[in-house]
Amino acid sequence: MTGDGPWSGWREAAERALYGDAAITGATGGAAETADGPLNEGPLSEGALSEGAGGFFLREAPASHFRTAVHASPLFAGAVATLLLRVDEALGHPPVLDLVDVGAGRGELLTGVLAALPPSVAERVRPCAVERAARPAGVPGRIAWSGRPPAGTTGLLFANEWLDNVPLDVVESDDAGRRRHVLVRADGRERHGGPVTGEDAAWLRRWWPASGAPGERAEIGRTRDAAWADAVGTLRRGLAVAVDYSHTRDARPPLGSLTGYRDGRQVAPVPDGRCDLTAHVALDACAAAGAAAPGAGAPQLLTQRAALRLLGTDGRRPPLELARTDPAAYLRALARAGEAAELTAPDGFGGFTWLVQPVAVPSPLAAVPAQPPGRPAPS
Ligand SMILES: C[S@@+](CC[C@H](N)C(=O)[O-])C[C@H]1O[C@@H](n2cnc3c(N)ncnc32)[C@H](O)[C@@H]1O
Repeated sequence: MTGDGPWSGWREAAERALYGDAAITGATGGAAETADGPLNEGPLSEGALSEGAGGFFLREAPASHFRTAVHASPLFAGAVATLLLRVDEALGHPPVLDLVDVGAGRGELLTGVLAALPPSVAERVRPCAVERAARPAGVPGRIAWSGRPPAGTTGLLFANEWLDNVPLDVVESDDAGRRRHVLVRADGRERHGGPVTGEDAAWLRRWWPASGAPGERAEIGRTRDAAWADAVGTLRRGLAVAVDYSHTRDARPPLGSLTGYRDGRQVAPVPDGRCDLTAHVALDACAAAGAAAPGAGAPQLLTQRAALRLLGTDGRRPPLELARTDPAAYLRALARAGEAAELTAPDGFGGFTWLVQPVAVPSPLAAVPAQPPGRPAPS
């Protein structure tokens, strides 16, 4: 392989870098180029990663590079356990209750949910981690490990920060305002490719229309829509939930949101297998795709703050009176409130979006009905 590698669209490049068999190359960097001239400054790539080392997520535990809500606090797994109990109730307590975690990392969420459930429910749960990385050592034997969501399940399918790691193509408007595919090399240099046509153009018209300004970028979410629809389609009855940082049609980021993470820091998105490559998710488009699955009801989009509050997790401080009567309990409650506050902070995890898709059951997270006029709202 040469030091620079071939040009390809971002979807193909990210697929190789995150999940492929090998990554890159020699130390390079500098100005990016386009078929028409310079595009932008290319980020620096730092040199060879051996062939066959495996893509980023096949080698690296997500928790070694960034922090998700799963790692932030066990309260998150507790809230998912509460949700599973509500799904169980809505399903009429089936003899086997599926719990499928898509993009399961190292299985941390499943382990946490199983520990948080009452034993009488936990024993009916059939847990399955869906992951492209191999099963790590130490995952409890009862957790199945699979490359795809099992078909025909009854229960809860949960996907925390999965869809943002489903690779997608990037487009950019050229000087004439025409949308062109962005091609990239393994060192992060970019140039314009051909004009956007066909289903990509149709998706952009519907979900991410252009203003016509040169340099404006967009990310084509078709791969995420398809991945989500596929996951929803595996549920016979139950609830599918995707949690991610997202945007909707009325507020797409004009320069896109593709970025990288490595060792806890945000870095330039270079598809060389050394960093996470992630882009915010057009969850409104995913919602429309998932809602087309057989048996699917109306999808909901709500903030994580709202979802966790509906599940009984909020960051309110314990009453001061408790500090006087039971100081140890007060300190425990205070620590818990601090963790809940982090999970629900509007400018942090609380600002994430939950896409909730019921299949052949009413959603246990359906919004609390509005108060009839004349009745005071609950405080
Ligand atoms: C950001 S990590 C999130 C891990 C975990 N859910 C959490 O919240 O800590 C995304 C994970 O999704 C996995 N992944 C991406 N695409 C996948 C796919 N199509 N099927 C299964 N796992 C996938 C990646 O390998 C990676 O482990």
